[in-house]
Amino acid sequence: MTMNSSSKTPYEVLREMSGGFMLTQLLYTAVKLRIVDHLHAGIITVPELSAILDADVSALNRFLRMLVVINILVQREDGCFEVSALGELLRHDHPDSLSNRIHYIGEVSYPAAQGISYAVQTGEPGFDHVFGMSFFDYFSHNPHLGTLFNELMRQGVADRVANVVQTYDFSGYGSVVDVGGGNGALAAVLAEAYSDISATVFDAPAVIEEARRYFAEKGLSEQCQVVAGDFFLDPVPNGAHLYVLSNIIHDWDDQKALSVLENCRAAMDSGSVLLIIEQIMPEKALDAPVTVASDVSMLLLLRGRERTEMEYDNLLARAGLRMTKVYPFEQSKVYSGRKSNWAVIESRLQSAV
Ligand SMILES: C[S@@+](CC[C@H](N)C(=O)[O-])C[C@H]1O[C@@H](n2cnc3c(N)ncnc32)[C@H](O)[C@@H]1O
Repeated sequence: MTMNSSSKTPYEVLREMSGGFMLTQLLYTAVKLRIVDHLHAGIITVPELSAILDADVSALNRFLRMLVVINILVQREDGCFEVSALGELLRHDHPDSLSNRIHYIGEVSYPAAQGISYAVQTGEPGFDHVFGMSFFDYFSHNPHLGTLFNELMRQGVADRVANVVQTYDFSGYGSVVDVGGGNGALAAVLAEAYSDISATVFDAPAVIEEARRYFAEKGLSEQCQVVAGDFFLDPVPNGAHLYVLSNIIHDWDDQKALSVLENCRAAMDSGSVLLIIEQIMPEKALDAPVTVASDVSMLLLLRGRERTEMEYDNLLARAGLRMTKVYPFEQSKVYSGRKSNWAVIESRLQSAV
């Protein structure tokens, strides 16, 4: 685990990859038990920690020793444990904390991943096979995980929004509806950047309550509204200058994606513009590994997929819309040099001149 990957043999690389399950669970358990938070707060003896966690002293000691092996903790000369520089990022109050992500992966992604073989064999969502219900239904039944998911989506928006706003000119649009806008991350950025924009988030009832609270916290309640609804069944607020579907279409198969697009089209008037913000599937997998990974997630979690530019063009045409321009942009934060293939896809009504 401490060797440089370039110095490993293929056998070593694959052998280590096959043990990835353990790393995920070690990190998840460390976060769930708030080990790093406790050590950071100055509790350093294992008996003290075990009393706080109501954990078996011997088992806890063995677990902490393993956290030393994966560089989350260091063991001092006197045998006590301290947090390493890597481990600091597991603290819940660290500005770059990965604790939410690791918690979500441990609770949702890890068990869901057992459905990959089912998804590959059937083309059906492995998530439903494992959890007995669909991805978004699961969040309705487990609101604390839904909130965690929405927080991760907010992080995703934060990781790309600077380049979205640099790439696409939002000035001149008086009203924006962010369809499936989650907890309001993108709407808030647009409202803050353009004081004359009035933004509406349209999402499921539980989710828009999070958006409402967020706008209130940011003092944006006048500029940002929320509307609860189901984008397959309920009308989307009509007559806005701009409709945004960010990270929505890739969640669904063509039939469902068409239904969302048709619903938006019905709300648009002749001057309205619709933006799809998505990753575009590249010709070759290694041209955008993050996009390929996202595509497999969509296969596993929902009936969705990442699509090529031509597939978006076709889908828009079938929904009565015309793709007018594609604005590629790079994620503002690129992790481990792994490229994604983001784009803002602009469209208008086919009937509009
Ligand atoms: C992948 S998240 C994208 C959130 C945000 N737009 C972004 O860019 O990160 C998908 C969003 O669609 C919402 N959603 C899923 N099904 C929906 C439905 N039937 N009606 C309305 N919103 C829905 C979810 O609540 C969630 O906020």
